[in-house]
Amino acid sequence: MVKVLGIETSCDDTSVALFDDNQGVVENLVSSQVELHDHFGGVVPELASRAHLVNLLPLVDILLQRQKLTLGDLSGIAVTAGPGLIGALLVGLSTAKALCFAARLPLVGIHHIEGHILANALVEPMVLPAMVLVVSGGHTEVIHMTEVGRYDRLGGTLDDAAGEAFDKSAKLLGLAYPGGPEMDRRAEQGQPGRYHFPRPLLQDSRCLFSFSGLKTAVRLAVEKLSQPFGEQDIADVAYEVQEAITDVLVDRLFRAARERDVRAVYLAGGVAANRRLRQRTAVEAERWQLHFLPPDPEFCTDNAAMIAYAGWCHLQAGRQDDHRLDSFARGAITSWR
Ligand code: KG4
Ligand code: ZN
Repeated sequence: MVKVLGIETSCDDTSVALFDDNQGVVENLVSSQVELHDHFGGVVPELASRAHLVNLLPLVDILLQRQKLTLGDLSGIAVTAGPGLIGALLVGLSTAKALCFAARLPLVGIHHIEGHILANALVEPMVLPAMVLVVSGGHTEVIHMTEVGRYDRLGGTLDDAAGEAFDKSAKLLGLAYPGGPEMDRRAEQGQPGRYHFPRPLLQDSRCLFSFSGLKTAVRLAVEKLSQPFGEQDIADVAYEVQEAITDVLVDRLFRAARERDVRAVYLAGGVAANRRLRQRTAVEAERWQLHFLPPDPEFCTDNAAMIAYAGWCHLQAGRQDDHRLDSFARGAITSWR
């Protein structure tokens, strides 16, 4: 039985998980830092690194104890090498290296975006080739995937990521960080039609996104509201922000899917938890007769289960890294390995 420990510390969640090829994801522990960063309205990199330093080894310990395992029972350790906050990544990477060194285990570095994409394989075997929309707090990309390890990045955002657009709009509405999930909830009560927010590049044939104009439009709309904002005002703005973002995302995903001969579409990353995006993707997938199954919301936002599984795939394929493995703040999935 192959057991892979996953470690994810690329941003503000400390997570460790265990994937085993008999039972799938056995554990997925996430220690959230939301309360730590809430006060600042966004992630403070140094605080994130320090919190990982304090929380990571105790989480590994809890996981091993709960599973009645020792390091020697593991088949390898997978760790996010990038992209992400360098200080935060270094904590995960150093810990993974030290554990591998001590227990003579294989080490495998994972591209964070590949982890998000492969979270879809935790629900069912992925139907390939596929077009994948990666939407998170730091990324908005369309990726053509032909097999595990083979990805072609067709395009991405020119400025803000989709999750950032949700979070910044939420902040303007006075909602707590991270605002994406709260926007999703508030939008449910929204009345359509009160606002119209821009959908940049909607008719553009290139696979590009731009969300910075949306933030400006939301700011102008919010400035006209009387303070404190009413619940309905918040809901109406949230509804139209969500419509503007999902319109663009869905349009771009299916345009790309039609241009390449794919069998399926997938969503990946934190924003893939958005209910409206999932619903609209399902409707379009049916229209274009493409396979689509939304990822488990637990595995949409940052988690180590997706890293453990990606590590398992690479170790099975005979790929591993030596102890010179470095972290990286930026870097497309296509230029990795
Ligand atoms: O993948 P993730 O956990 O971290 C990054 O790699 O960036 O994504 C976090 C992002 C945040 O911007 C958060 O607001 C957004 O995903 N998010 C959502 C929802 N759940 C998380 N955005 C919209 N609707 C949601 N339900
Ligand atoms: Zn992520």
